Amino acid sequence: MTHAHLEPSPAVAARTLRVGVFGATGYTGQLLIELLRRHPHVNLHFATSERERALEDGTPLLPADSAPLAEVDAVFLCLPNGVSGGVAARAVAAGVRVVDLSADLRLESAALYEQTYKMPHPAPQLLPAPYGLPEIGRAQLRQARYIANPGCHVTAVLLALYPLARAGALSDAPIIADTKTGVSGAGKEPKPESMFCEVYGDVKPYNVGRRHRHVPEIEQALRKLQPDCGALIFAPHLVPLEVGLLATVYATLKPDWTLERAYAEYQAAYAAEPLIALHPLGRAARIREAAQRNGAVVGVSEGQGSTLILTCAIDNLRKGASAQAIQNFNLMFGLPETAGLL
Ligand SMILES: NC(=O)c1ccc[n+]([C@@H]2O[C@H](COP(=O)([O-])OP(=O)(O)OC[C@H]3O[C@@H](n4cnc5c(N)ncnc54)[C@H](OP(=O)(O)O)[C@@H]3O)[C@@H](O)[C@H]2O)c1
Repeated sequence: MTHAHLEPSPAVAARTLRVGVFGATGYTGQLLIELLRRHPHVNLHFATSERERALEDGTPLLPADSAPLAEVDAVFLCLPNGVSGGVAARAVAAGVRVVDLSADLRLESAALYEQTYKMPHPAPQLLPAPYGLPEIGRAQLRQARYIANPGCHVTAVLLALYPLARAGALSDAPIIADTKTGVSGAGKEPKPESMFCEVYGDVKPYNVGRRHRHVPEIEQALRKLQPDCGALIFAPHLVPLEVGLLATVYATLKPDWTLERAYAEYQAAYAAEPLIALHPLGRAARIREAAQRNGAVVGVSEGQGSTLILTCAIDNLRKGASAQAIQNFNLMFGLPETAGLL
């Protein structure tokens, strides 16, 4: 696959793009700024916070309402759900490209958003938005005016299943996805359940079954790839790590599929992907292989009979959020897809 390595036109390569980051004091915003500072084609023009006036490194911060949208080429939105969509709408109206890290633009239907997030959709006019998981749909991201960056659990579960779903290999049996995520996944805002004494020494399932807000997002993407695949049973776990997310997915193949044929689909899908490392057949991915790194690690292992065990490890703040946002930004502007990421 050569698409991931396209060189930018000389005009784009020579250009420095001005960007703004909304929500710069949060976990994803801080990391995004760190990554953008090393990006060869980016100049950070402004960053926002409602509570702080500067980052620890001295970067000045503005309130979101006074951000000079007219002066930038693109903005990254690292804002809470429900806030982000309104800022996205303002930016799009001002002709500025947007990568939204929140959930506001991810679900294609405002009604499904309202059912899932229990609030009115802040910008239904932007739906459906191009969905920014480049490995499963790069073409629509090139030249996109705005992109919905996927959820972290969603990224890991979809990358674990994508080659099978693309090939139509999944049976209609339920797909069981177990994820384990570090505590930064809950953001920087203090919450009792994220406190050290609540998290340390424990592994806690939460919102198990179909109650987690990422279930509709995973199913929306999976059904587009393979409409007849089984329903998702999802069990996220909070583990005492700062960053990292592991998805362990139990999926059953249709009768005419074998483990070897399934693995060949993973090789075909991921061999040329610059941000995906596919393990040899039988080796599972682990969080340590992906934490503090910008890509994902995928493993395919034998389960029992036609049931496979698929694993995908990512850093929730990187391939699960900020690094993926930069990958999407690069695609939007015709830059090398991994600029600033390798
Ligand atoms: N953490 C993850 O692993 C992860 C992964 C994927 C996606 N996401 C999504 O990315 C977004 C940011 O996540 P995060 O973990 O970085 O959250 P966070 O650590 O809680 O940061 C949220 C940011 O939003 C700002 N903010 C809060 N309320 C605001 C308001 N009303 N108006 C304007 N700014 C406001 C906060 O800054 P001030 O309080 O200083 O204004 C802060 O900079 C969320 O939508 C989250 O769901 C997070």
